[in-house]
Amino acid sequence: MVKLGVNVDHVATVRQARGGHEPDPVTAAALAELAGADSITVHLREDRRHIQDRDVELLSQTVKTRLNLEMAATEEMIGIALKILPYSVTLVPEKRQELTTEGGLDVIQLRASLKDQVATLRQGGMLVSLFIHPDLEQLKAAHRVGAQAVELHTGTYCEATDETERRAELAKLESAVRAGKKLGLQVNAGHGLNYRNVREVVALEGIEELNIGHSIVARAVLVGMERAVREMVALLQGR
Ligand code: PXP
Repeated sequence: MVKLGVNVDHVATVRQARGGHEPDPVTAAALAELAGADSITVHLREDRRHIQDRDVELLSQTVKTRLNLEMAATEEMIGIALKILPYSVTLVPEKRQELTTEGGLDVIQLRASLKDQVATLRQGGMLVSLFIHPDLEQLKAAHRVGAQAVELHTGTYCEATDETERRAELAKLESAVRAGKKLGLQVNAGHGLNYRNVREVVALEGIEELNIGHSIVARAVLVGMERAVREMVALLQGR
């Protein structure tokens, strides 16, 4: 069964719109877990535009499933991860001006620094995942720098404007999952997935976990967090 990681960043986005206390991503995470989420993800960005340090600290104490901390591979963030000790860390590229994480990590180019950073995080007891495009060379590089998992960027698949492009992107994801498994990596995926486009990604043989944020939080605003998560869990379980 494909697992669901719920990203609660955008609950914090709504809170930050007024700079107050509500809605609280910590409460949202607890409701997501009650509704069947297998893990909770938050992205602590350098500019703290949504998730705050306080959220990560509280979540590390309250999450009953697994906490996945998404972050840039910087000294500041690695220091925070070593203090908080989430179950896993997903390293992502981060640009200040972007609306969301735009690309995958260029593990080939960053291999020297990533090797040390992955080793430091693993020594701290965390599982380390790298967010990459579904590309064979990036997968090999992820394995070489010591990551135990990868998260395949599904953004291009989700944004495909015609059937040919969509099929081609799905094929790339399919061979990346296969190659990743062969290398002994845990293969997850995420970005841009929603209630309409998730089915075909769920069907990819060997995929372990999907990290989904915006579509779940967007639905939760209208129908509630528990129902929004339950409906996504049902899709991941092929119901
Ligand atoms: N995975 C990664 C690495 C991400 O950066 C994001 C966006 O924060 C997601 C998954 C979730 O993407 P979305 O909000 O589009 O579901």
